[in-house]
Amino acid sequence: MSETNYNKPLLKNARKRSFNETIVSEYQIPLEIKNFGKNKKYLIQTHGCQANEADSEKLRGLLETEGFFKTDDLNEADLIIINTCAIRKNAENKVFGEIGRLKKYKVLNPNLVLAVGGCMPQEEEVVEKLLKTYPQVDIIFGTHNLHKFLEYLYRVMIQKERMIEVLSFEGEIVEHVPTVRENRYKAWVNIMYGCDEFCTYCIVPYTRGKERSRKPIHIIEEINELITQGYKEVTLLGQNVNSYGLDFVNEKYTFADLLKELSSLPIERIRFTTSHPKDFSFDLIDMLAKGKNLMPYIHLPVQSGSNKILKAMNRKYTKESYLNLINKIYEKIPDVSITTDIIVGFPGETEEDFLETLDLVRQASFEGAYTFVFSPRTGTPAASFIDTTPDLEKKARLYKLNEIVNQGYAKGNSRFLNQNVSVLVEGHSKTNPSILTGYSNHNKLVNFKGDDSLIGTIVQVKIIKAKTWSLTGELFHE
Ligand code: 5AD
Ligand code: SF4
Repeated sequence: MSETNYNKPLLKNARKRSFNETIVSEYQIPLEIKNFGKNKKYLIQTHGCQANEADSEKLRGLLETEGFFKTDDLNEADLIIINTCAIRKNAENKVFGEIGRLKKYKVLNPNLVLAVGGCMPQEEEVVEKLLKTYPQVDIIFGTHNLHKFLEYLYRVMIQKERMIEVLSFEGEIVEHVPTVRENRYKAWVNIMYGCDEFCTYCIVPYTRGKERSRKPIHIIEEINELITQGYKEVTLLGQNVNSYGLDFVNEKYTFADLLKELSSLPIERIRFTTSHPKDFSFDLIDMLAKGKNLMPYIHLPVQSGSNKILKAMNRKYTKESYLNLINKIYEKIPDVSITTDIIVGFPGETEEDFLETLDLVRQASFEGAYTFVFSPRTGTPAASFIDTTPDLEKKARLYKLNEIVNQGYAKGNSRFLNQNVSVLVEGHSKTNPSILTGYSNHNKLVNFKGDDSLIGTIVQVKIIKAKTWSLTGELFHE
């Protein structure tokens, strides 16, 4: 190995919200590496959340400005990047399995470059394991230095070095990184990076660093550009969008202020994720109720219905205050669709605690939920909490919870039966290419028959059948 620049990643527990001004810089392509990807093909595998999907679109942008082009065939790739997720152990195990499987492609093509980036390399033990056990990996990079990927690649491809660079500082936002998006009609727009919440189970504050909000002017500029390109929908991304702007020095500008500005832009649909219940303000609810292009769909992770467990998770709200909040939302936006995230089997969760969660789920009328079994993550406080619940019991809880969650999905879909819904048509159904598919304002998957010319437009569809996971309809002609 000829090059190692590996600062130990952040794994400190006591970091508090920092009010230092975030450094904002402009992306610049290093001059000496112009066009070195000509005739070379890349393949990116993306694991995890929308933040990773958005990062992979930036990696695509960087590569395509240098002449690389995309392939879906592992056999013909000159470069394979795995953009990793660290949120649960099984996500990590999948990645290690995949790196193992990719070894054979390096044997077939010794010039193939294999890169591992994203959240996993921000963990010290992961980098150590990669260095020790996976010599087939040529580049290891983290979440804070994605914009430098071309430099690393150049040094590996042209100068034949191995590059390991994971940064533990995190104060920067780099604007105008080239981006090639996967979808032509709906786009992810980062409004902030990192997280300052430190929920005790969660690795994200360590892998993505402290909260940094993008300046409103940069967000508005990006959305205006998307409008020019014909985009119909944007989803604003942040680990906790409700704390947007809290890190601005000498300036009060909240997420509700941002939404107010964005709602006057000529974009048809604005969504956002993820919200934290503790910061979801009544101002924001009022704003959502007013904005015509603010979609009536909110993902509001609750994690547990037991006050004891919520406290142990450091969530900073109670079952009662959460229910109070969503009742306020239902009152102001009566037809809103709310979904959530729930963890079962958190250390110390008893049967009674779990029943509190089921009770909350019933009362909250969720129309969907991502449900998980607690996965201890090294370096987080909860990894050392005493956990005596047997795995089988945790699985049984997950099963029971999912039964109730699925009733919520079905009920949420059935309320649209015989109604007209707006659908942004994205393309053909994967299972039936003669059917068009897209999402409604409430984020429901809708399938219907129609002409290909409708792709990329917003149409009215009359719902004739409601299934648990999707709606079927007919194009509505006035
Ligand atoms: N174990 C299980 N689920 C987790 N999540 C985050 N960390 C963990 C963990 N250690 C879940 C939370 C979060 C979602 C993105 O992933 O529910 O909202
Ligand atoms: Fe993780 Fe979300 Fe909690 Fe941040 S708010 S620590 S990303 S669960």
